[in-house]
Amino acid sequence: TESWILMATGRTPTNIAVIKYWGKRDEALILPVNDSISVTLDPDHLSATTTVAVCPTFDRDRMWLNGKEIPLSGDRFQSCLREIRKLADDVEDEKKGIRIRKDDWQKLHVHIASYNNFPTAAGLASSAAGLACFVFTLANLMNVKEDCGKLSSIARQGSGSACRSMYGGFVKWTMGKDACGSDSIAVQLASESYWNDLVIIIAVVSSKQKETSSTTGMRDSVETSPLLQHRAQTVVPGRILQMEEAIRSRDFASFARLTCADSNQFHAVCLDTSPPIFYMNDTSHRIISLVERWNRSEGTPQAAYTFDAGPNAVLIAPNRKSAGLLLQRLLFCFPPPADNELSSYVMGDKSILH
Ligand code: PMV
Repeated sequence: TESWILMATGRTPTNIAVIKYWGKRDEALILPVNDSISVTLDPDHLSATTTVAVCPTFDRDRMWLNGKEIPLSGDRFQSCLREIRKLADDVEDEKKGIRIRKDDWQKLHVHIASYNNFPTAAGLASSAAGLACFVFTLANLMNVKEDCGKLSSIARQGSGSACRSMYGGFVKWTMGKDACGSDSIAVQLASESYWNDLVIIIAVVSSKQKETSSTTGMRDSVETSPLLQHRAQTVVPGRILQMEEAIRSRDFASFARLTCADSNQFHAVCLDTSPPIFYMNDTSHRIISLVERWNRSEGTPQAAYTFDAGPNAVLIAPNRKSAGLLLQRLLFCFPPPADNELSSYVMGDKSILH
């Protein structure tokens, strides 16, 4: 029998939405009710690294997440794998004597190992980085020729927000119009070096897993929240244009106002849902007050905050100087215990600063 192994490895950071995606108009294809905009983090922090291997002796597709095998069947990873296989092309490696024909990919099985470089237990969104990395690395292994836009629409079918991690910098996920989702893709608005003065601080407020998954939460909001309809139809379209302009002109004051307002409206939609969803806790609210008070006392925004489907705060400062001042304020309100290292310190019982 033939014996060879072919591998590919990729690394993909997670992304943080500044205009949020919340609500699907098609659950199976993961088509959203509004456009969203995010910033992709730098790959040294909060990223997934995935290695995929193909070998003629593998008898089934298998996957390991942080060293532990997870079932692939019926999973969202499975639908991405199926889509990538359809686009696979010939691969030749003369040195290793490997020759894979397009159609062989239907019979060849893959082993996938993925690691997150941040504690999964910290309750930070990992699905965006994981799914985007999975799709990107498989596409490399299988010599898929499609562009990142097409790959983003495949990653979207694994986890909506994953499509935005297909690019660095500022990224917009356009909701699209057609029923099959071919135009519901990510586009890059600005590269990772465009606004690189920005500093992002993540304050881990709780390491508990979230109580309501984004899938359940979105479904409940779409079915019950009148505010969600208003937000998607009337508020977000204007905010998307304003946010694109703020990014284009590196206007931190507008960027911060829009980011905070959109996070707050997303959590208001959660409260407007039946049953109501509480993602933020008292510590999250204290962090919001701290930033709001500081911004108000200076007369212009010094920092922005945004919260996803959990209590952890993502704080954005315009430069290192403001980030330093923000950290001082945070540490004053949430003093670290003397014996803890600052880089991984738990606020009260509660938070880790990265
Ligand atoms: O892609 P999901 O299903 O993990 O949903 C993400 C939803 C939010 O993180 C709350 C908002 C966003 O746009 O990322």
